[in-house]
Parts: sequence; C-alpha cells; structure tokens
Amino acid sequence: MINQEDFFKKIVAHAKEYGFVFQSSEIYDGLSAVYDYGQNGVELKNNIRNYWWKSMVQMHENIVGLDAAIFMHPTTWKASGHVDAFNDPLIDNKDSKKRYRADVLVEDHLAKIEGKINKEVDKAAKRFGESFDKEQFISTNPRVVEYLAQSETIRKRLYGAMDTNNLNEIKTLIEDLEIVCPISGSRNWTDVRQFNLMFSTQMGATSEGANQIFLRPETAQGIFVNYLNVQKTSRMKIPFGIAQTGKAFRNEIIARQFIFRMREFEQMEMQFFVRPGEEIKWYDYWKKERIRWHLSLGIPEEKYRFHDHEKLAHYANAAADIEFDFPFGFKELEGIHSRTDFDLGAHQQHSGKKMQYFDPELNESYVPYVVETSIGLDRMFLAMLSNAYQEEALEDGSTRVVLKLPAILAPYKIAILPLMKKDGLPDKAREILAQLQPDFMCHFEEKDAIGKRYRRHDAIGTPYCVTVDHQTLEDNTVTLRDRDSMQQERVDAGALRKIIADKLRPVV
Ligand code: GAP
Repeated sequence: MINQEDFFKKIVAHAKEYGFVFQSSEIYDGLSAVYDYGQNGVELKNNIRNYWWKSMVQMHENIVGLDAAIFMHPTTWKASGHVDAFNDPLIDNKDSKKRYRADVLVEDHLAKIEGKINKEVDKAAKRFGESFDKEQFISTNPRVVEYLAQSETIRKRLYGAMDTNNLNEIKTLIEDLEIVCPISGSRNWTDVRQFNLMFSTQMGATSEGANQIFLRPETAQGIFVNYLNVQKTSRMKIPFGIAQTGKAFRNEIIARQFIFRMREFEQMEMQFFVRPGEEIKWYDYWKKERIRWHLSLGIPEEKYRFHDHEKLAHYANAAADIEFDFPFGFKELEGIHSRTDFDLGAHQQHSGKKMQYFDPELNESYVPYVVETSIGLDRMFLAMLSNAYQEEALEDGSTRVVLKLPAILAPYKIAILPLMKKDGLPDKAREILAQLQPDFMCHFEEKDAIGKRYRRHDAIGTPYCVTVDHQTLEDNTVTLRDRDSMQQERVDAGALRKIIADKLRPVV
C-alpha cells in the first residue's frame, strides 16, 4: 500500500508529465508557490469554473455575474480591514535566515505530540487485538493523558496569544517548547512580527506621484463596492446574489503542498444579500446548496466534511468550511460565511455613499446582510485531480494510470482514433471529428498502436474514445470505449453526438 506522501508526489509528477500544471518560470528555476496551467490543465480549470458559474448564475434567477478589476481604490482595503488585520505572525531563525509562520511552528509541534499519541494507540491496538477499546485507552493511559494535557495547555496559550495579538507570548511559547529551526537546528529566533499578506505596487507614471495600491487578496470586495451599481441596473430584489470568479493574491509566508496554497490563485465567490435577521436561514441554505454542488459531480460523500468555526472573525456571526480529503488529509476547500452587514457598512462609512436597500415589502431601508460562498478554483482542481488519479492492475498483468475525472470536467470529452493510418480510415475519422468538434473538445490521434493511444487518453481522463475501423467504412458504425469500464460498444457514428451529449448532461 502506497503512503500518502508518495501518492501526492505521484499526482504532482503526473500533473507535470501530462501538461496539467507546471512550475511558473521553470527555466529560471521556478517561482515559489506560483504555477502555470498547461494544455490539459487549462481545460480542466475552465470546465470547473464553467460548472460553478452554470450552477450559481445560469441556474439561479436571482444571481447575476460580475467581473471587477484586480486593482481597486486603496481605501477599499482600509474599509475591509485588510490593511490593519490581514496579517500572519512571522519569526526568523537568525542562523538559517529562514522565515516561518510562528503559529505554524507551534502547530507543527502539536502535530508531533498527536503523532506520539497515535503511536501509543497503534501499539496498544496491536497488543490487545479485538478487545481493544480506543476511547478507554485514550482516557486512562497515563502517557496519553499527559500528552493530551500538554496539547491542551499549548493550544490555550497559542490561541489566547493570537486573539490578543500578544506577539511576545507567542515567542515565549516557542522558546518554552524548545522548538528548533528545521534547517539550522538552532533556537536562535528573532522576535515575532506581524506580516501583512497583501502584495502592493505603485500606480502612476512617476514615483513622486505614485499611489500605493494592492493586488486584491479576495475577489469579494469587488462585489461589495459594486453592490449599488449591480442592484440598481439589474433591478434585483433582496434576496439576490452577485457571483464572480477571478485572481486573488496573497504573500503567503509558507507556501507548500503544490497548488493548495499559492501566492497567485483564483477564487469563485458569491455574495448573497439578504434581510437583516434572515442571514442564518440563508447561511444554512447555502451550506446545503454548496455541498449538493460538490456531490453532484459524483465524488463520494465521505471525501467531504463540514468544519463549523467556533472562533469567528470579527465580521461574521456564523462560518463553516467544506473540507476535502486531500492526499495530505482533510483541509479547507470552500468557506461559507455569514458576514453580517460588516462589509457594506464599512464601505458606506469610508465612501460616504449610502449602501441601503429600500425593501418595498417592509417599507423600510436597511444595509443588507451578506452570506458568502467562497471556493478556491485551484484547490478544487487539486481535489478533482487527486480524487481521479488511480493506478489499476489489468488482467494481462500490466497497470494503467487513469484519471477518473467527472466526465463533465475532463479536458477532452472524446478521442477520435482511426485504427490505422491507411485505407481511408483517417479521412473517415476526420469526417466524424468535424461533426463532433463544434459541440465537444475532441482530440484526433492517428499515431501509435491503438492500445497506446487508449492509455494516453486514460492518463488525461478522456471519458470516451471513438475508434474508426474498416467496418466503419462499410456501415458507418464505430466503437465507443468507456474510460472507466474499458467496455466498448458498437454504435452508429451518426448517433454519437446525441449519445455523448446525454452522457455529459450536467447535474448542477
Ligand atoms: N472572501 C473570503 C475569503 O477569501 P478565504 O477562506 O480566505 O475566504 C476562500 O478564502 C477560499 O480561497 C479558500 O477556501 C481556498 O479554497 C481559497 N484560498 C485561500 N487562500 C488560498 C491560497 N493561498 N492558495 C490557493 N487557494 C486559496
């Protein structure tokens, strides 16, 4: 059985080998936590984005789209709280000159204690066999009880210090726990400082006249500052939503796990404007709606779980993450937040423009409350890729690597393959290609043995292969091969468009 780390390495290698994801500027040794999407990656990414857009905008009469600019007036970020509070605590090791997130150093230490607990549990489970009672062991074994008490104390100190912005206490905690730098092995730490995650640049031709502006760290604020424009021009009535997809930028201190945590990434966000007092009803609605969307792709339910936030951001009165079982464990994929009237209220205050809505049913005006759904497109890409990757042993003793992507998301829907490069088969295959190409992403391939071509398409997740052979010339039938079952059926070439369209009908 392959371990999770090796499995993840295989996915990263596969993503590169098959043109899904490349390191940015690789020829110059790459740029950390920035990635480019290759010929197959861009298709998968577009398909995920379209599937989201269709579900949010096309299928909801009361949601409209928006494409706001990345650059925004600098006051936007003052109002949103990002200038003052979008920080991570960082610490440097003076010997290795390496920079770390101070809270993550402590969390890694906590993970080590958890590892020790798991080791004790595994040992005892082996020793006691079937009669092993895990709950009882954890609550009574002196060593485990001690580890749990240690974790609890560390957690309280860390989160207490984070809540009160007590940076000295975080440093003292790192010293007390004798945490060493993984590179230098030393405990020679600087003080902990707050580090703002926003990237900034200058707008204007000369440096004297230049204005510092930020690259947006979330797309949400583009929606809030356009709330009035969209509401008035669309004549939407509350409750209604505005959806947007686009790039966001964060100067993440620790960027790891491939495209899970990037410095330039893409978000798909929707802000739903509701009556004050009705936000929790809509928050519950969107939690259900969003998990339904994920499951509509046919991914097993056990791959997802909700994590309800106990500690809420100052602007939220309810928040939950949808976590996905990535190759490195359950991690946040999407956030659903009840953001109250914080954002519109703050923009009203900073801009002096009224962000109020006149509710004709209530005959009163108010600043709407907001329920947000926010999913990282790149994280969704990684979730789909890691869920799809399989190595299958075949009856003939060989193995195939197959991406069992939901067909609706696959880069190519159909591979059109003349069995041989002669006897008029390529011409006939091109005829069929011309019929299908306007509706589906098709790939025409005539090189190599047919088995090899099937393997190549398995590896990029093409759900259907159409093979044109000598019989096609006689009766216009082709074989249609299913990627997952590898079964082939003989069908009329003229019926292909309908057969495949039926198979690909989205369940958004
Ligand atoms: N507007 C709310 C917001 O931005 P968030 O939890 O900070 O909330 C939302 O981000 C989603 O964006 C996350 O659930 C995640 O999928 C994605 N995301 C956040 N930071 C990311 C990063 N550095 N790299 C890739 N995706 C990221």
